[in-house]
Parts: sequence; structure tokens; C-alpha cells
Amino acid sequence: MIYRIAVVAMLALAIQPASAQDKKAAKPSAAAPVEQKDAATLEFEKFRTQMEQEGNPAELFEVKGEEFWKTKRGPKKVSLAESCDLGLGVGVVKGAYVQMPRYFSDAGKVMDAERRIVWCMVEKQGFKFDDLARNPFASGEYTPEQTSLVTYVAGQSKDMKIAVPLKDPHVRDVYEIGKEVVAYRAGPYDFSCNTCHGTDGKRIRMQNLPNLSTPQGALTAVLGWPGYRMTGGVMLTHQWRMGDCFRQQRFPQPKYASDTVTALLTYMTANANGQMYKGLGIKR
Ligand code: HEC
Repeated sequence: MIYRIAVVAMLALAIQPASAQDKKAAKPSAAAPVEQKDAATLEFEKFRTQMEQEGNPAELFEVKGEEFWKTKRGPKKVSLAESCDLGLGVGVVKGAYVQMPRYFSDAGKVMDAERRIVWCMVEKQGFKFDDLARNPFASGEYTPEQTSLVTYVAGQSKDMKIAVPLKDPHVRDVYEIGKEVVAYRAGPYDFSCNTCHGTDGKRIRMQNLPNLSTPQGALTAVLGWPGYRMTGGVMLTHQWRMGDCFRQQRFPQPKYASDTVTALLTYMTANANGQMYKGLGIKR
């Protein structure tokens, strides 16, 4: 318990602005159980249900993504629909998202959905990786094409079971690496992902932090992404979430579409295997 309070206090110090530090750090009630949903969370959940019924703004990006998928584009003037294999055959989108990350022998790598789409854009359509990696995530009015593509592809796995092919030894290896990355402590605060996400019931600033190692926590970690984020009104992918958590950890940001990010996504997604993917997310 003392350890737990110490960790929470440490996190509060790291996350809160200076003025709020002393008060928060000394308050053990910061470790309140998850079940007590605060008013803001309840309000947001009500709002989200309403949005889900009336149409998630993510659908706009899904439509754009479908157009990008089907149109002949890039220096080579080919479409992804006629050239890109997401693991189930060239052009097959239905069900592909819930079966990634997976191993792609043409690339010799395990890839998550976004990385695979980027790989196809480079290899099949002739786009330059450096161009795609320059501003890979949405901000303001700008949404990268690959974000819309990921959104389209993910939407085509709605209501299907998550089934990362863990039996494949390539995937298994990358899963094990992901597990190590999640536990790896370093940086100015000596944090690992597990410092914040390794136990049940941890919260920072009213946000529940899913325990990535359990099926339920992993599902939470996977379900929201790609998702439309109310804050800023932007469409963001799971790759973005990973980069932002490295920032939370005070680590340098990983390279876009890198092995490390794929390893993390493999670990989390496979931990959610067998559970239902409910479609595009909406985030606060
Ligand atoms: C300093 C604490 C901290 C560390 C360390 C940290 N995170 Fe997070 N993480 C957060 C917070 C806070 C949120 C919620 C942010 C929000 O909802 O806006 C979050 C959200 C997430 C989510 C999305 C959860 C959801 O409900 O959609 C995932 C997935 C995630 N983190 C994974 C990771 C991984 C993987 C690492 C290690 C690379 C990591 N985090 C390291 C604090 C942390």
C-alpha cells in the first residue's frame, strides 16, 4: 500500500502543474478505486453513447479512407485495392484489421495495420516513406492520408473477434519483445509502461489507465483506436497513442512505424485475442 501511494504521488508530481503538486502528492485518496466514476466520466459516457447512435465523426474519415483505398494514386498510379495485401489476400479488407499485427513475408516483418498500409503506399504506390513520416498524425485541420486509410480498414472489422496470429513464431517473438518493452524502466523518472498500466485501478487526472497485461485492460487499450478525439477534434491512430505515451513516460518518441511500436501493439492486441472489436472509437 505504501508503495502504491508512493507511486501515485510520484505520478502526480510528474503530471500535475507545479501549483497543484504539494496538495496532490500528499493526498492518498488519489488512489481511489476505479469503480467510482466521476461526474465528468459519466457525462462523457452519456455523450459517447449518443454519438455512437447518431454517427461517430470517425465515419467521415472512414469514407475518405475508402476513397483513398480504391483510387489509383501515387507516382505508380495504382490503387491499394489492386495491390495491397493486408494478410488475407490482395485487396481484402474485411476482417483484416482484427488479425493484425501479423507477419508479412514480402516485407520480412511483423506489422500492425498502419505500418502495413504505409508499407503498401511506399512499395506499391511509390510514395516516399520520409514524406509519410514527416507529419504522421493529425493536428488541427490536417489529417494524414494513412490515418483515414487505417480508419477505413479498422471499420471493416467491426463486430469481429480480435485474432492476432500468435501461433506464428514470428508474431510470438515480437509479442515477447513487446512484453519486455512494456516492463522496461528508464528515463528521468525511471518509468515503464507498467508503472502506469501494469496494475488494475490506476488513474491519472480522472483517466482510468488500463492494465495492458489483462484481457480486459488490453481490450480497453485496443478498442478506442483508431478514434476520434473530442479534444482538438482530430482522428488519431493507435500508433499516435503509443508515441504520446512515450511522451508521458518522458522517453524520446519512437520513430514512426518502427519495430518498437509494432511490438507494443502486438503485445496489447494479442492480449485482447478472442474479444470483440466494436469499431471506431470516440475519445474525450
Ligand atoms: C506516466 C504515466 C504513463 C506511462 C508511463 C504510460 N502511459 Fe499510457 N496512458 C497514460 C494516460 C494518462 C493515458 C490516458 C490519456 C487520455 O485518456 O487522454 C494513457 C493511455 C494509454 C492508452 C489508451 C488507453 C485507452 O483507454 O484508450 C494506451 C493503449 C496506453 N496508454 C499504452 C501505454 C504504453 C504502451 C506505454 C509504454 C510505452 C504507456 N502507455 C506509458 C499514462 C501513461
